[in-house]
Amino acid sequence: MCGIVGCVLKNRKVAPILLESIGKLEYRGYDSVGISTVDQNGIHLKKGSGKIKEVNEKIDLGELPGTTGIAHVRWATHGIPSTENSHPHTDNEGNISVVHNGIIENFSEIRESLEKEGYIFKSQTDTEIIPILIEKNMNKGLNLEDAVNEALKIIKGSYAIGVISKDNPNEIIGARNDSPLIIGVGDGDYFIASDATAIINHTKNVIYVDNGELVILNSEGVVVKDSKGNVVDKNIDVIDWDAEMAQKEGYDYFMLKEIHEQDSAIRDTLSEKDKIAEIISNLDGINRICFVACGTSFHASLTGKYLIESMSGISTDVILASEFRYSANTLDENTLVIFISQSGETADTLKALKLAKKTSKTLAIVNVLGSSATREADFVIYTRAGPEIGVAATKTYISQLVCIYMFAAILADNKELLNTLNEVPDYVSEVLSKEDVVKDIASKYSDVNDFFFIGRGLSYPTALEGALKLKEITYIHGEGYAAGELKHGPLALIDDDVPVVVVLPPGDNYKKTVSNLEEVKARGAHVIAIGSCEDDFIKTEVEDSFCINDKVKEIIAPLIYVVPLQLLSYYISVERGLDPDKPKNLAKCVTVE
Ligand code: F6R
Repeated sequence: MCGIVGCVLKNRKVAPILLESIGKLEYRGYDSVGISTVDQNGIHLKKGSGKIKEVNEKIDLGELPGTTGIAHVRWATHGIPSTENSHPHTDNEGNISVVHNGIIENFSEIRESLEKEGYIFKSQTDTEIIPILIEKNMNKGLNLEDAVNEALKIIKGSYAIGVISKDNPNEIIGARNDSPLIIGVGDGDYFIASDATAIINHTKNVIYVDNGELVILNSEGVVVKDSKGNVVDKNIDVIDWDAEMAQKEGYDYFMLKEIHEQDSAIRDTLSEKDKIAEIISNLDGINRICFVACGTSFHASLTGKYLIESMSGISTDVILASEFRYSANTLDENTLVIFISQSGETADTLKALKLAKKTSKTLAIVNVLGSSATREADFVIYTRAGPEIGVAATKTYISQLVCIYMFAAILADNKELLNTLNEVPDYVSEVLSKEDVVKDIASKYSDVNDFFFIGRGLSYPTALEGALKLKEITYIHGEGYAAGELKHGPLALIDDDVPVVVVLPPGDNYKKTVSNLEEVKARGAHVIAIGSCEDDFIKTEVEDSFCINDKVKEIIAPLIYVVPLQLLSYYISVERGLDPDKPKNLAKCVTVE
């Protein structure tokens, strides 16, 4: 997973603009960075491994001549993070420079045959075959556009690319297949980028590039061509969020800012109600639902199963996208397969979506506008949470849940639940106003090695999500467990070194969960309960707690009870001196299977 940007500017030096823009994509990958520009003297290039700030301090990436250029942030897939493996990659003569996001599946065969022809490779990447194939085609007399087109004909896999060449100092060629690419249309300035965050400071007018399309950007403007070389008439969309929304707005980290945006994110998500009702009215004959997702989106899906089965009686499965292809395919035309994905670009989810489409109706619940999942699915619901930069999903989880709640409530014609959703933003604000309570708990437990999170029924996915947040940003081992399942094994691990977070909203499952709380307490565990502010048992019997408005009943608890768990992980991460926005080994969008 990587991020790319390219700019053709009217009369400004491009390198500083590329440096600023690629910084906005650091959430897509941050192990290496590079910039390449072109002018009458040819290709110029600077790159290195490390975060953008570190690399820039060493080699001053903004100091390159020219008004046309491309840039890249990398999250390694082929070859370790190193200067050689960083993008941009060039051809053997140094006349062509390429940035790439995606994976070329047949690169080893192509590399082998190019090596036999005498071409030299400097990196271990799959990408380097692209500039060399283009070089080979240009040596045969093709112009840059045709040379790129011919190269793409033999490449299998996913890509969004930006190409510059010494022969065309005012031009960038872009192309996409299964990796995101947009075009930005400014006032005489033109851009390509992996997403709009990178260019929003310069233009809000964007064109979404489709699979198989080739983009030609130059000082004259933008032309998009289909795979047969015909010019395509594309719409220009105006994006409705601004640059500040993608900045930290005074918070120390994006994650904290995004946790605090959850009340307003929910309000925006609720605006999708009519769209959801319209989709449901087109679902005649559906007698089974199957959710497919990864990670946090999987946890949101689990909540969907509880809601839909209990309110509509429609049999509902939840399958991890990476496991989808291994389950016997019993889907049919009466199954609705719902794909939940923040990015809409997760490779496992997209693969499953392509498979499911063959038999069933598909619905994608997605945050990123114009992302690949939205192009594949029959129906699309946008979560409308706005850009999420922190690697750990927070506001997008809540927004996914809100979409799922609206879907389940409309499907079951449960007007009461639908109305209750309007109260959720205020409950979330109330939790956020008490974040110092969580901060104190976090500082008490920041040195432990293991945590358990338990809950029953609708609170079980909340426990799973609390544990996932903890693992990814604090590097503490956290296990989410169904509270009733502890006694079937994991209770053996519980002692006074293992704090247990109990998700304990008032409702049908309360008493049984209290029994499980007593079980862990009896083994010496420190208990942290998240429960009602009117709960006397918690007040008197539990060591640490965070309390939530008593009006929040079990049915809507997942939307509110997860917030203190997000804050707990955030503050433990900060307490441990970590960067919660950029956990090691993880990327915001996972475009490899
Ligand atoms: C966890 C997290 C990941 C994603 C997962 C799926 O905080 O962000 O577990 O939920 O990689 O990503 P999307 O939702 O983009 O398909």
